[in-house]
Amino acid sequence: MYFKETKGFPKDFLWGRASAAYQVEGGWDADGKGVTNWDKFVRIPGKTFKETTGDKAVDHYHRYKEDVKLMADMGLKTYRFSIAWARIYPNGNGEINEAGLQFYDNLINELLKYGIEPMVTVYHWDMPQALEEQYHGWEDRRIVDDYVNYATTLFKRYGDRVKYWITMNEQNIFTSFGWLKGMHPPGKENDMKTFYQVNHHANMAHAGAVLALKELYPDAKVGASFAYSPCYAFDRKPENAMAKADYDDLQNYWWMDIYAYGRYPKSAWAYLESMGVTPDIQEGDMEILRKAASLVNFMGVNYYQTCVAEYNPIDGVGMSNAMNTTGKKGTAQVQGIPGLYKNPANDFLPTTDWDWTIDPMGLRMCCRDITSRYALPIVISENGLGAFDKVEDGQVHDPYRIAYLKAHIEELKKACDDGCEVLAYCTWSYTDLLSWLNGYQKRYGFVYVDREEDENSGTLNRIPKDSYYWYQKVIASNGEDL
Ligand code: BG6
Repeated sequence: MYFKETKGFPKDFLWGRASAAYQVEGGWDADGKGVTNWDKFVRIPGKTFKETTGDKAVDHYHRYKEDVKLMADMGLKTYRFSIAWARIYPNGNGEINEAGLQFYDNLINELLKYGIEPMVTVYHWDMPQALEEQYHGWEDRRIVDDYVNYATTLFKRYGDRVKYWITMNEQNIFTSFGWLKGMHPPGKENDMKTFYQVNHHANMAHAGAVLALKELYPDAKVGASFAYSPCYAFDRKPENAMAKADYDDLQNYWWMDIYAYGRYPKSAWAYLESMGVTPDIQEGDMEILRKAASLVNFMGVNYYQTCVAEYNPIDGVGMSNAMNTTGKKGTAQVQGIPGLYKNPANDFLPTTDWDWTIDPMGLRMCCRDITSRYALPIVISENGLGAFDKVEDGQVHDPYRIAYLKAHIEELKKACDDGCEVLAYCTWSYTDLLSWLNGYQKRYGFVYVDREEDENSGTLNRIPKDSYYWYQKVIASNGEDL
């Protein structure tokens, strides 16, 4: 659409920044915290870039006051962070660890002291390892009750101060990387049947949490954060347009339809039936999913890139774990599902050093799609550029990050003109942090942290980058001064 004038961002727009517990906190065994699936997984040789771990991460656990002060000086309106389940329930269920609850009390109070709205993610991939040992974690239906119990503990403790809740971070990523690509715990490959079962359990956990929250705090705002990569058909060939439709049903709507409508897309279901991999659904499940969907307040979107769908013959490429985790451009490989689609590179778009396409217009596109299909408000819960940053004379100049964010914010503003109700824009990430598979060299922050892959490197000192001061102006002008 073309508009003669722009309306700009709404006046109470939440300019934010996001993080996740495992990637920033460190203190992996501090104050009674239990061991997580990630604490274990990173110790398997070859799983992460140069065997990096989040043991110390960027030590946010001990430096949260310094970090929140930097956020306040920047004028940040909201901070999205996740809670480590194993700090609250070291065994996933059973006994509560008061010290863990206290840590997040302190963090939330510190944010509120400066008028920063806390936005809490209940689950950002770090599951108590004890649940893996008790019943194989997400593979077993028992996790639904344990997750809802954990979430309810959070709602009761923090619900008087936290208004925005995100139940799950990128369910599509942690399940596909965990059960299809072997790149996240539990490291399984091509296990389609379990993958869909795990997803059904995660959907039930999400739904149970939504219902529990709304029972306690009807006015709270809740949604899940989905890693949404809008898809372009490779060209005008009908078989490539069909490949796009297949991709959307299986890779996008499979999750978003559950969050927004409480149903699985019909053609995706028919395909899974033909493959013999549909999940077991218990009586009453779909009703619970529908009820939760009717109470969801927003669609959380983690937007980084778009993709392309091209028809993939039955003997074509499959899923692989060949991803660019080194930052050597051009090392990513085409992946796909034989008989349906594959995802070649898009020649029209530049890429990052990790081969992620850079497509600001895609952000507007995904807001439009969500608005048309679901008519839900949108929280952009992640968007950002992973890059190599260097300190020069005590400063970090990152014009490439400013250019990236500026272009995305311009498109987001157009999405607002299009009639999309966008509530928040949380860029990834606040400080530099651990990129799960890519180590510490892939930096996303507004604030540089002095550390490298080696656990004993660096002072962990914080240095605001040029982008920090730029975003300060963006916030002060409500997105006008870009
Ligand atoms: C999202 C995750 O997938 O993207 C974050 O929610 C993650 O936790 C971010 O760090 C960037 O991905 P990566 O692989 O570059 O760290």
